[in-house]
Amino acid sequence: MPDATTGPTIESVLQEQRLFAPPAELAASARIGSLDAYRALCSKADLDPDAFWGDLARRELHWFEPFDSVLDWSDPPFAKWFAGGTTNLSFNCLDRHLAGPRADKTALIWEGEPGDSLSFTYRQLHAEVCKASNALKALGIGKGDLVALYMPMVPEAAIAMLACARIGAPHSVVFGGFSADALRDRLIDGQVKAVITADGGFRKDKPVPLKPAVDEALAANGGAPSVEHVLVVQRIKGDCAMATGRDHWWHELVDGQSAECPAEPMASEDRLFVLYTSGSTGKPKGVVHTTAGYNLWAHLTFQWIFDIRDDDIHWCTADVGWITGHSYIVYGPLSNGATTVMYEGAPRPSKPGAFWEVIQKHRCTIFYTAPTAIRAFMKSGRAVPDQYDMSSLRILGTVGEPINPEAWMWYRDVIGHNRCPVVDTWWQTETGGVMISPLPGATPTKPGSCTLPLPGIAADIVDMDGVSQPADAGGYLAVRRPWPGMMRTVHGDPERFRRSYWEEIRPADASYLYFAGDGARRDADGYFWVMGRVDDVINVSGHRLGTMEIESALVSHPTVAEAAVVGRPDDLKGEGIVAFVTLEAGRCGDDALIADLRAHVGKEIGPIAKPDEIRFTDSLPKTRSGKIMRRILRALASGQEVTGDTSTLEDRSVLDALRV
Ligand code: WTA
Repeated sequence: MPDATTGPTIESVLQEQRLFAPPAELAASARIGSLDAYRALCSKADLDPDAFWGDLARRELHWFEPFDSVLDWSDPPFAKWFAGGTTNLSFNCLDRHLAGPRADKTALIWEGEPGDSLSFTYRQLHAEVCKASNALKALGIGKGDLVALYMPMVPEAAIAMLACARIGAPHSVVFGGFSADALRDRLIDGQVKAVITADGGFRKDKPVPLKPAVDEALAANGGAPSVEHVLVVQRIKGDCAMATGRDHWWHELVDGQSAECPAEPMASEDRLFVLYTSGSTGKPKGVVHTTAGYNLWAHLTFQWIFDIRDDDIHWCTADVGWITGHSYIVYGPLSNGATTVMYEGAPRPSKPGAFWEVIQKHRCTIFYTAPTAIRAFMKSGRAVPDQYDMSSLRILGTVGEPINPEAWMWYRDVIGHNRCPVVDTWWQTETGGVMISPLPGATPTKPGSCTLPLPGIAADIVDMDGVSQPADAGGYLAVRRPWPGMMRTVHGDPERFRRSYWEEIRPADASYLYFAGDGARRDADGYFWVMGRVDDVINVSGHRLGTMEIESALVSHPTVAEAAVVGRPDDLKGEGIVAFVTLEAGRCGDDALIADLRAHVGKEIGPIAKPDEIRFTDSLPKTRSGKIMRRILRALASGQEVTGDTSTLEDRSVLDALRV
């Protein structure tokens, strides 16, 4: 492979050829410090996966009771990992660090938007988590009860997650940007017993109330009858209605509790959390992760992809409402005894350098963000970041969507000053942690490629029959072997789990293969290049949205007869949302209705799902069997010629009408 550390070598429009070797200094001290070392680990894992994962699980986690078997795959695709063992994620993240000097190390640094900040040592965080655990117990919450979190980025969000894990109550974190209706759906689906929320949070220099959405979710449209208690963190200190008996202030209930609460020994396969994500149908699916496998995967991947050191200050800019926040703000860093940063704010007109200020202030060494943020920074130029001292950084990460080589190069140059490796990490809510990523001390990187699968991950590019594709041929991204962090099922719908992930592609030998829903190719060096979703999921600024969910929201508006939603390329957001809408007879599509429909989608799902463009049409292009031909709509939405076969179109005049 050519080496491009001294500048680009072969430039080609079709294929990115630049290659950047890991910095020698980093490689010299890294856990995995060369491609050979990486390959040796991969071979070890491939030779005897059970021994590989079993050794790591024993070495890296604390067990109350040891496990008797590593993987039980006797009932595929339902895996059981580390059966017989008992452990606790909260114990692994807190208690086991208290025995030595790490007890007084900073575990969590929190930076509030208005400039307030807090930090917790491991000992302090342990005490806060114990108090919150005791408060939950006082409300009658115990092992197995699902608790929803609907919170801004305040320390109590992490504390509440760890408290739930501690007492064995699985959590279901619902992104604070989702609407009351979306929250209610998730509360009902999970039969949630308690909700932890806040009076509000700060956004763009203003306090924004959050609790009213919880009240609405619990009151309107039949509410969510399973919810008995609401625990409310006081953040913005504005007016906040409290329902007697149901609602409790966090500071009143939690602060007075005992700071000791033993961690509940949990069976390896006990449910740890549910996290809803979009799929190809109208209903979001509750991805279920379990205790030991998820813990091991968040722990190991965090250690590998950032080659974590004891003095690192790690900052991941995600929200705890997404899997990235779960695995790389809270569980991965704390399980490793690292220092993790949590930021309530975002870059905004009054503070375009907000991120760089956090890095400068806390001397962050690892920065993990999304391509959409990088593209936004690129647009406003290097003048802003150049004003800050970011010499503390040593590794840069990206996640959430494909990163275009220009953005990758800008990130490496302007933020990393060409010193820091860029780790482009491919993974999903379903995979629990990173699956394909460079190792910063071992893997030469290519801009736009997430490079090579982590040790033990049997990633492949296949066709619909599960046949591996040759170098550079496009195909579907799949994983041939179970891994500890894999999702276990869809909450309440195991058949959907089987169908959507394991039966889309069935190899001739009838083995089970995990279908990720992404299209990708692998180059001659074995590097993966992810192209994006191949199903009806669109990726808007790194947020996964199902086109069917948005369509259902549109159709629930009284004026709408039918709707089809597609993505179109967007320079900043990755993908934008375009909706084609047919109206009920006699309705007229005008600007007022467009505004109304956008607001309606915002109310049904949340502001991130509002279409960028709504086009009214008399009819939608359908096949003779009545299936909407999205391929055609996608081409129209992005202003391209409709190519390919249109012979299955039921009424060809629809196409002409849509073109005008
Ligand atoms: C996309 C986020 C290209 C992909 C962790 C995947 C990526 C979906 C990358 C999962 C990447 C994530 N390169 N595409 N590095 N990382 N994706 O569940 O389409 O919110 O299937 O998990 O994001 O999104 P999710």
